[in-house]
Amino acid sequence: MTHDPRPQGGSTTATGAPAPSDLNSLTLGADGPILLHDRHFLEQMAHFNRERIPERNVHAKGSGAFGHFETTEDVSAYTKAALFQPGVRTEMLARFSTVAGEQGSPDTWRDPRGFALKFYTTEGNYDLVGNNTPVFFIRDTMKFPHFIRSQKRRGGPGLRDNDMQWDFWTLNPESAHQVTYVMGDRGIPASFRHMNGYGSHTYMWVNAAGEKHWVKYHFHTDQGVKNLTQEAANQLAGEDSDFHRRDLYEAIDNGDFPSWTLSVQLMPYEDAKTYRINPFDLTKIWPHADYPLVKVGTMTLDRNPANFFAEIEQAAFEPSALVPGIGLSPDKMLLGRVFSYSDTHRYRIGPNYLQLPVNRPKNVEGLNTYEQDGPMAYDHRGDEPVYAPNSYGRGYADMEGEVEESWEADGAMVRQAYTLREDDDDFSQAGTLVREVWDDEQRERFVGNVAGHILGGVSDKLLPKVLDYWKSIDADTGKRIEEAVREGQGKDVAPGETEPKGVIPEPSRSHAS
Ligand code: HEM
Repeated sequence: MTHDPRPQGGSTTATGAPAPSDLNSLTLGADGPILLHDRHFLEQMAHFNRERIPERNVHAKGSGAFGHFETTEDVSAYTKAALFQPGVRTEMLARFSTVAGEQGSPDTWRDPRGFALKFYTTEGNYDLVGNNTPVFFIRDTMKFPHFIRSQKRRGGPGLRDNDMQWDFWTLNPESAHQVTYVMGDRGIPASFRHMNGYGSHTYMWVNAAGEKHWVKYHFHTDQGVKNLTQEAANQLAGEDSDFHRRDLYEAIDNGDFPSWTLSVQLMPYEDAKTYRINPFDLTKIWPHADYPLVKVGTMTLDRNPANFFAEIEQAAFEPSALVPGIGLSPDKMLLGRVFSYSDTHRYRIGPNYLQLPVNRPKNVEGLNTYEQDGPMAYDHRGDEPVYAPNSYGRGYADMEGEVEESWEADGAMVRQAYTLREDDDDFSQAGTLVREVWDDEQRERFVGNVAGHILGGVSDKLLPKVLDYWKSIDADTGKRIEEAVREGQGKDVAPGETEPKGVIPEPSRSHAS
């Protein structure tokens, strides 16, 4: 049979020549061995072997879409950032995720959800890498790897382990506020479209006159907040582990574009020094009565990725990607994250991850970085000077003195997560959430969720500590959790001991099995 190199416009090799066959390898006779010089087979196989990149260490399972952010209000008194000037429309990418599971884990497991945004602004890419909760489990980055390991798989059996989680949480009581959130209704959103997003940390905004404010971001879903019950989520986890990914993709595909309204809380720079709550502690919110919401604009997602790997899996968000008019704050979690993300991207994607189309600062004119070469380098500046300063016309930066987004810091070097203030205890904001924000039905579901989680594997050794943790948050709710646990004890199927409900025993086999 004659060889048609490209039947119906057939494939090519990666070097562009017509591919010989994607169906048959080259062998010595029809029944013989594969030949080592079947380059096409070797290239296919070798590339396939290298197709995966490491999954994200956290937030591995996620979904994303593109869209735009439009600044509808005038907040120029607070920030000079180009993207937040009235009427400016900025291209953007959003990626939503669960935190602790792996790439294939079910979308409907109880967990915080990541809410990572990349704005392709004219002044550089601005990444706001937040969650669907306004607070976090810990207040010092040093604890982060330990916290995450307690959520991941245990060394021995390779299983996730509720006992490990509760051990960490009870030994780190600053987790109380976030654990309360996650065990409440918002721990399982109905979809990514139906959850709010928060920058969570305190950031700094600087206006054109150099005046500074501390700022917290709130993205309220225009679809309304909707959550799943534990039972519905459990069922979905089995029926469609990609439930949230599918929902987002299909909504956008059908022209039903989800949107969020961005509002911010603004704290005058000087207030931070005396406010009764340390405003940089990520385990705390700023009550809205003290710092009300100020509307900024709307984010709309209207384009699905054309290719999931290229545009979502290889997307790299980093809280260090800031633009003029937006700065960091003394939040120790935020400062730690400034190192962590770009470092993990260099490992996960490669040192030139910022050259990939999804990550490059595509709306900036005159990109002029002195970072060059390295694996897979694509961008280059020809024969221009590779050093700064230089006398041959390539520009370089030369700013001296106090930087705009700065704050005062002084004192001895210490290891201490903040100086405590009047209202800085670990439990009271969590108690307020349970008592004052939730209604009876929410509290009822919350008690069931916590008790179910405890029954899912907390040891007798830890149980008293876990119950005390909840009593410290709210005495009555703690008591109800204790009762629910006591009632449930003995009823639950301990993993590996008996068969869970609904298991059909197989009849004894007779033939070849
Ligand atoms: C992802 C570290 C706290 C939100 C990640 C990744 C790392 C990391 C290593 C994986 C990034 C990748 O491979 O692309 C840390 C450290 C923290 C911290 C060291 C401790 C301070 C937080 C907090 C939030 C957050 C407080 C939210 C307020 C996210 C999100 C992602 C992520 C949304 C997923 C980004 C994406 O969609 O690609 N984090 N994280 N993290 N983190 Fe954190």
